[in-house]
Amino acid sequence: MSGFRTLDDVAVAGLRVLVRVDLNVPIQDGEAADLIRIERVAPTILELSDKGARVILLAHLGRPKGERNPEMSLKPVARAVQKVVGRPVAFASDCVGDAAEKEAAKLGNGDILLLENTRFHAGEEKNDPKLAKEMAALGDLFVNDAFSCSHRAHVSTEGLSKHLEAVAGRCMQAELEALERALSNPERPAAALVGGAKVSTKLDVLDNLTGKVDMLIIGGAMANTFLLAMGKQIGKSLAEPDLVATAQRIMTTAKSNGCEIVLPVDAVVASALEADVETETVDIDSMPEDRMILDVGRRSIAEVIARLGECRTLMWNGPMGAFEVPPFDKATVEIARAAAELTKKGTLLSVAGGGDTGRALNHAGVTDGFSYVSTAGGAFLEWIEGKTLPGVAALQD
Ligand code: 3PG
Repeated sequence: MSGFRTLDDVAVAGLRVLVRVDLNVPIQDGEAADLIRIERVAPTILELSDKGARVILLAHLGRPKGERNPEMSLKPVARAVQKVVGRPVAFASDCVGDAAEKEAAKLGNGDILLLENTRFHAGEEKNDPKLAKEMAALGDLFVNDAFSCSHRAHVSTEGLSKHLEAVAGRCMQAELEALERALSNPERPAAALVGGAKVSTKLDVLDNLTGKVDMLIIGGAMANTFLLAMGKQIGKSLAEPDLVATAQRIMTTAKSNGCEIVLPVDAVVASALEADVETETVDIDSMPEDRMILDVGRRSIAEVIARLGECRTLMWNGPMGAFEVPPFDKATVEIARAAAELTKKGTLLSVAGGGDTGRALNHAGVTDGFSYVSTAGGAFLEWIEGKTLPGVAALQD
């Protein structure tokens, strides 16, 4: 989707700006334990504050199911936002009603306020028009900077756009631009690397990608289902035998779309997924019956890295092996580092996101080495499935 409005299209001085951000961060001992999502939205908050807007942040934490739950209060997150942006951040104990109105009324130009968890109101997730109207009355403009929440048609991601002009914040803008460059209009050859445990959770991802990229590299336990579909023995490996026909169909579609599917040619196998277990690397045609595949082997790693060397674009989603348990992190780490090297050389645009991907790339130490690593989970997956995200559609010209 091109043609979405951004902060460049609006004058914000003196306006009350409702900014949807993703502050759904882990809380440990009453404090925000991971600041990355806050760091990603800080530029938007600071830009609006610098331009003299009255910044009113909207966010959710957890899934309180429409009820007030002190454990899911955003109050500790307000302290973390204040630390990251280096300016005072006020807090209101509700996102609508007296408490919100009172705090919002105190704001001067450039001030920042965070409202309590939007999901404390049942109307938020129902996209209730009444709640949308009430929330919209707190602002003059709506900025959506939460791509990672925009697969939800909620009041704070979509409903507000029915009452207020809606534009993308800088984090949303960066995300959309990266995704467009990687998937909608990629420089070719373009590859996608999809890993993870189950084909069943990535069916739509695989279907969409076979129509978009020139090469689909499949790793993780989901590759085992494809190996089964090719008539290979996979021993005790995790797989979904009932999806063999689906895997065959995906391979046929890929072929007719001119998309090459790259599967492992060798594998690191063991009797169990345990850290100190004995391992061996075997050719994919010599899989022992009593072992399971836990990572792709050396030859597969070398092949994937060589193929990436021929590509201009990479979309990465999911780990190549059971990376949480070393030594089964080797393929994920080595391929991620090679992709980061190619990115640094300027031959590859690398975009990653969804589910465990951020954690896997962090483990490989390459988060900063990729062109863009999304902090979105479900929203990233829905995007690469080719779905329209309601919160993003609301920003279109
Ligand atoms: C996320 O953590 O992926 C986003 O904040 C969305 O949260 P949700 O899945 O509870 O809507």
